Amino acid sequence: MTTERPRPLVAGNWKMNGTRAATKTFAAILEGCDAALRSKVDLLVCPPATLTYVFAVAAVGTPVKVGGQDCHAATHGAHTGDVSATMLADVGASYVIVGHSERRTDHRETDETVKAKARAAIAAGLTPIVCVGETREERDAGRALAVVGAQLAGSMPEEAAREPVVVAYEPVWAIGTGLTPTVADVAEMHGFIRQSLVDRFGAAGRNMRLLYGGSVKPGNARELLGVAEVDGALVGGASLVAEDFLAIARAYME
Ligand code: PGA
Repeated sequence: MTTERPRPLVAGNWKMNGTRAATKTFAAILEGCDAALRSKVDLLVCPPATLTYVFAVAAVGTPVKVGGQDCHAATHGAHTGDVSATMLADVGASYVIVGHSERRTDHRETDETVKAKARAAIAAGLTPIVCVGETREERDAGRALAVVGAQLAGSMPEEAAREPVVVAYEPVWAIGTGLTPTVADVAEMHGFIRQSLVDRFGAAGRNMRLLYGGSVKPGNARELLGVAEVDGALVGGASLVAEDFLAIARAYME
């Protein structure tokens, strides 16, 4: 059994924010990802689909990766407004977020849908970031572990046993609220997720990166990223400010 930890990943989820003017912010992130930082952590930015290509071109030759925020389960076809994993890969993305709670809520995505999207991502050569997380009501009812366990069982594709997949634990009530779970609650949840992944995927489950997401800021990054079985962060609001995003990643340099 290996005791080596997966290499950390700090990922920015820009959500529906950013026009071409935001290329400046991305350029500042590229510039800030210096040799010292890149030796400790992988950086990823997931801009809105309209900026994927321009960011991917800007990132060529740098260690910063670009990803999508969602993909359709099909490679192409009559799905007005959707973007496929194949298309994201074609313009230079290497990751895609699937099953974010905003997609699960706004677009009624089920575990089954999320799993199909993750499989499409893998087939296109992308690494899916599969998001799970409980609501406030579910946590208050003592059901957080059960809810996340069921989401993992339903959303994680079988391919995760042999292909890279990232899991992001994002408590819905912590997203964009400034609220975060206690270190003990994060440790409990990440320990539970790790065990579930090892039970199902064996060694691959042990090496899978488990991100924490939900109100990660420069001020709490060290504490949250220092929790056992937390291999990085999925950052929303703070990833829109280059200095804040870089400050979160630099938690790994301390
Ligand atoms: P937040 O969002 O960092 O703004 O809370 C996180 C996310 O939704 O991925």
